Amino acid sequence: MLKVILSGCCGRMGNVVADLIANRDDCEIVCGVDKVCASKDFPIYPSFDDLEEKADVIIDFSHISTLPGLLKYATKTKTAVVLATTGFNEEQTESIKAAGKEIPVFFSFNMSLGVNLLIELSKKAAAVLNGFDIEIIEKHHNQKLDAPSGTAVMIANGLNEVLDNKMKYEYDRHCKREKRAENEIGIHSVRGGTIVGEHEVLFCGRDEIVSISHSARSREIFAVGAVNAALFLKDKKPGLYSMKELVESK
Ligand SMILES: NC(=O)c1ccc[n+]([C@@H]2O[C@H](COP(=O)([O-])OP(=O)(O)OC[C@H]3O[C@@H](n4cnc5c(N)ncnc54)[C@H](O)[C@@H]3O)[C@@H](O)[C@H]2O)c1
Repeated sequence: MLKVILSGCCGRMGNVVADLIANRDDCEIVCGVDKVCASKDFPIYPSFDDLEEKADVIIDFSHISTLPGLLKYATKTKTAVVLATTGFNEEQTESIKAAGKEIPVFFSFNMSLGVNLLIELSKKAAAVLNGFDIEIIEKHHNQKLDAPSGTAVMIANGLNEVLDNKMKYEYDRHCKREKRAENEIGIHSVRGGTIVGEHEVLFCGRDEIVSISHSARSREIFAVGAVNAALFLKDKKPGLYSMKELVESK
């Protein structure tokens, strides 16, 4: 039985992960961490500094401000981590990579299998559709804090990889009055209502458009991916792992 600490347990994703794990017999939540105190059938601590329990893995759907305490606790107690929170800056990303030298860290801005397939398909399309303008449009609910979504950046990074890292990301054409450059990936964020998460990659050529898209219909797809990632990390050596390794292990 895999023992899990659920970070951000009282949030939207935390609640979905808690419900999912309650109905499984291969893992259990030993405690949660959340600055908001809600009633659950496991103890909840306001921060990792106060944590008494030990577990095999931390699943984190919280906020970037949790990261320092979480990594300090995880490296000290040699606990594996599934980091699903988005919006980390460069310095925070470096601290995640450093933690990966001491403990197994699974890090993905998007835990759904479908989005990871969208990235692979988009990379193939970019390699074939030479000279097409690439635009990424992401849509999320009106409570989302970060923009663009971590997934949009993940898609852009995947595309850039196959395009020799020569592409620049354009987030805001509003304050410019100039034509789009050829070596540009436009990234656009829409925020509204309860949209769970939509991503579309447009390849716009002369008189034709190829569009590849993914639509998340519930938060459960991310929760299932995170729990699968937690199970995948069991007995793994220290390192940084992603959906790529998880998919290849199947
Ligand atoms: N990787 C993925 O597949 C994926 C999918 C969905 C959401 N996310 C990301 O997961 C994160 C959480 O999303 P959500 O919609 O559940 O958000 P949410 O705001 O509903 O929940 C976040 C929870 O974290 C808690 N929290 C925030 N700061 C804290 C701190 N410093 N210490 C302790 N607890 C703290 C909040 O009280 C809240 O309960 C976001 O970054 C979101 O972008 C990732």
